[in-house]
Amino acid sequence: MDVKRAKITAVGHYLPEHRLTNHDLEKMVDTNDEWIRTRTGIEERRILKDKDKATAFMSAEAAKEALESKGVSPEEIDLIIVGTVTPDYLFPSTACLVQEKIGATNAFAFDLSAACSGFLYALSTGAMYIESGRAKKVLIIGADKMSSILDFTDRSTCILFGDGAGAVLLEESEDETGIIDYIHHSEGDTNCSLYQPAGGSLNPASKETVENMEHFVRQDGRSVFKKATMGMADVSLEIMEKNKLDPEDVAWLVPHQANLRIIDATARRMGLSNEKVMININKYGNTTAGTIPLCLYDWKEQLNYGENIILAAFGGGFTWGATYLKWGIK
Ligand code: COA
Repeated sequence: MDVKRAKITAVGHYLPEHRLTNHDLEKMVDTNDEWIRTRTGIEERRILKDKDKATAFMSAEAAKEALESKGVSPEEIDLIIVGTVTPDYLFPSTACLVQEKIGATNAFAFDLSAACSGFLYALSTGAMYIESGRAKKVLIIGADKMSSILDFTDRSTCILFGDGAGAVLLEESEDETGIIDYIHHSEGDTNCSLYQPAGGSLNPASKETVENMEHFVRQDGRSVFKKATMGMADVSLEIMEKNKLDPEDVAWLVPHQANLRIIDATARRMGLSNEKVMININKYGNTTAGTIPLCLYDWKEQLNYGENIILAAFGGGFTWGATYLKWGIK
């Protein structure tokens, strides 16, 4: 029996216009540009200011751009998966809102929660629908409006994140290009090293949760840093070894953009030189599920047909993983 393979056939993105620079943050919290740049690699991030717009809006814009670039009409889409931790509502899902916004009347849609690994988890889930023959055209979106869950008085978290969305179209590959392998891992973070304490069923919104600023991201940066560095480097090496890839076989590493030092450590472990690593954390910060498709969008003109690419992410949960694909857009 022929094994079907899914491949990325189009890429789209959305970034809000407003730039929040490190210098802007100096006026808001006790921090400075030098500290942020040297500890994280971030220079500025985008913030979605419009009160009436959120993750579904950014996702729909990214999806529309991907579809238009390939000349695919929304009615042809079978499935939409949105990786996000900042859905417009707890329910309905952001993916359902996107389905309506773009007019994908024949698609079913759901969200997937895997924090910064959301795009990679969604990508492999979507790929499996193509591989099984259950879907022909799948939209995978990674999008987060992190500014909606940031405490802009907490310097340890508010400097790290930004807003943005990226989308890819998955279709069946007719050749050897496409998504070849994926590895995912999870480890329940019962110590709550990276989480949003309230707003879920354990601590529903109340006067107290609002007063205690529990609806915002909390992170033990140092312990997450250690885990993320190890997790992302290990899984990237794991997928190279599993697929018998040497460093010279890999054209690009597309890493989740949480911290430049984590990215550097991953590339070093894989034996890759800096020119092979996509880095845009300086411009956008950590857009959570948005980082990897935003990299693919920024680099799409430089990607060559048939090149080996490794995508890697680590995030809250904990969740982490890597995907190996051969670029399939000519
Ligand atoms: N500006 C200036 N100083 C700051 C600061 C800021 N924005 N944030 C923290 N500091 C201070 C701390 O208070 C601390 O001071 P102290 O030594 O007097 O206590 C000092 O800087 C060092 O803090 P530390 O947390 O050890 O810094 P770090 O080198 O670990 O960098 C992070 C902090 C958050 C950048 C880093 O831990 C990190 O990137 N963690 C992982 C983030 C991540 O990947 N998250 C998402 C998972 S995908």
